[in-house]
Amino acid sequence: MGAEGHRLVVLNATLRRAGSLCTPRDCPTARLIGPGYLSDVGFYREHVLPRLVDRACGTAEMARWRADVTDGLHGRVVEIGFGSGLNVPYYPSTVDVVLAVEPAEVARRLAARRISSSSIPVEHVGLDGQSIPLDDASCDAALSTFTLCTVPDARLALSELRRVVRPGGTFHFLEHGLAPDPDVAVWQRRLDPWQRRLADGCHLTRDIPALISDAGFVIDRIEQRYAKGPRPWSWFTIGTAVN
Ligand SMILES: C[S@@+](CC[C@H](N)C(=O)[O-])C[C@H]1O[C@@H](n2cnc3c(N)ncnc32)[C@H](O)[C@@H]1O
Repeated sequence: MGAEGHRLVVLNATLRRAGSLCTPRDCPTARLIGPGYLSDVGFYREHVLPRLVDRACGTAEMARWRADVTDGLHGRVVEIGFGSGLNVPYYPSTVDVVLAVEPAEVARRLAARRISSSSIPVEHVGLDGQSIPLDDASCDAALSTFTLCTVPDARLALSELRRVVRPGGTFHFLEHGLAPDPDVAVWQRRLDPWQRRLADGCHLTRDIPALISDAGFVIDRIEQRYAKGPRPWSWFTIGTAVN
């Protein structure tokens, strides 16, 4: 995800600010989410985090990955975890429409500018990748970038993608996940509980290729390597799979 150390510093600073905005008295739901950081979880999750993700995932380094993962998309495309629409500028002209699934309202608002300056129509069709309100086999392709780490049940989301993508359709993925190096994986397991708290359920330890294959997709292109940034966050998997 690029510059992850910096992102964590920014997250911590934001949590301190959120803590000063929300005291336990005026925010009954306020709770400790880390030593010394008091924050209203709803405020942080709904208003702060989508903006942080928009910044952290919108770098020039990330642009290259996004151009790569969207290459070859065509027809009706369902995108889970659409976020603030950072993939929109990279949809190829072979895409007819993107059906976006995204729960965060602020992210959907941030996406509006990108959507309006794109020639490819985007329709928000749902809030949860684990329960996609589309008919069986109604899409030609699916896209997920940095979402299988966050969606609570990645297996369920993948089975939904298999259901809505037609047989022979493709799944394009770009995700971070469990690194093959034992010393990195140890740190990923140590940091995982903190990551989940700070980044809205995002896991560092998901085995992305195994999840995709176990769901029944047949991976036909895969590339894995470290992106720029601290290694626990930067083991990236990019590729395509056939339904
Ligand atoms: C790290 S962000 C990635 C956003 C975007 N895909 C990108 O590449 O910039 C993870 C996204 O998954 C979304 N998300 C979380 N739970 C979800 C769910 N159950 N279904 C679909 N999206 C979900 C979050 O709101 C967030 O926009």
